[in-house]
Amino acid sequence: MDMGLNGKVAIVTGAARGIGAGIARSLAEEGACVVISDINAEGAVATARALSDAGLAAVGIGGDVTNVDDVEAAVSLAGDTFGSVDIVVNNAALTRDGFLTRMSEEDFDLVTGIILKGAFLLTRAAVPHMIANQWGRIVNVASRAIYGNVGQANYAAGKAGLIGFTKAMALEQGRYNITANAVAPGFTETEMTTAHPNFEKIREAAIRGNAVPRVGQPEDIAAAVTFLASEHGRYITGETLHVTGGRYG
Ligand SMILES: NC(=O)c1ccc[n+]([C@@H]2O[C@H](COP(=O)([O-])OP(=O)(O)OC[C@H]3O[C@@H](n4cnc5c(N)ncnc54)[C@H](O)[C@@H]3O)[C@@H](O)[C@H]2O)c1
Repeated sequence: MDMGLNGKVAIVTGAARGIGAGIARSLAEEGACVVISDINAEGAVATARALSDAGLAAVGIGGDVTNVDDVEAAVSLAGDTFGSVDIVVNNAALTRDGFLTRMSEEDFDLVTGIILKGAFLLTRAAVPHMIANQWGRIVNVASRAIYGNVGQANYAAGKAGLIGFTKAMALEQGRYNITANAVAPGFTETEMTTAHPNFEKIREAAIRGNAVPRVGQPEDIAAAVTFLASEHGRYITGETLHVTGGRYG
């Protein structure tokens, strides 16, 4: 099935590893040209090299999504290397968990800043190119944590805010044939989760609680993002696609 992604230019943030790397690979396998951006510059370049070694179109760049100059550098790289920007995937995030009374102001600002300001800065820099092309896709990686998680006031607030940002973009940009959607993964096996001290316990609980009795893999999330970024997603906007193996709340 041709997904209409051949030659489209995508920027994926936080794509050195994990879900972002899976999304970058999936888009590239469908023919998209992908800019892999990550605060881990070495990782971004290595992940892009692995794709280009496999004959796919990818380039890597270091950058912090909360830094406007870094974000604009990624957009310029996309323009200089591949000609434009058609798709942005706001995927970069991290966790700094803690009960509210022990959560520092720095950890609140850090986590919400990466999720929200990061999505704002890249989308703002990319949308003029999409308007010029009269075609665009914004896909934001949210989380099941939008329903709340103990110890994740910062992360849950950021991810729930990202849904609001997504809906605002859908309403604002639809007239230019630009769609904006969110994908909300459940527990997915990446370095973000395997590093958790209770990884095995959470994993077992996820397997027990999911309708499909396993945890998610980056490819599961990437498939949903690729669909929404593709021509097949053209009349879907402002939505949140839950990719959780059937776990809600
Ligand atoms: N793994 C899960 O269970 C899960 C569940 C729900 C949602 N998510 C979301 O999926 C996305 C990817 O998560 P993952 O599990 O692959 O995590 P990960 O930690 O493996 O990858 C995240 C990447 O983001 C990068 N990053 C962090 N801060 C950055 C910044 N300021 N600027 C640029 N890059 C930055 C990191 O260097 C890393 O490469 C995140 O948005 C996360 O919130 C993950």
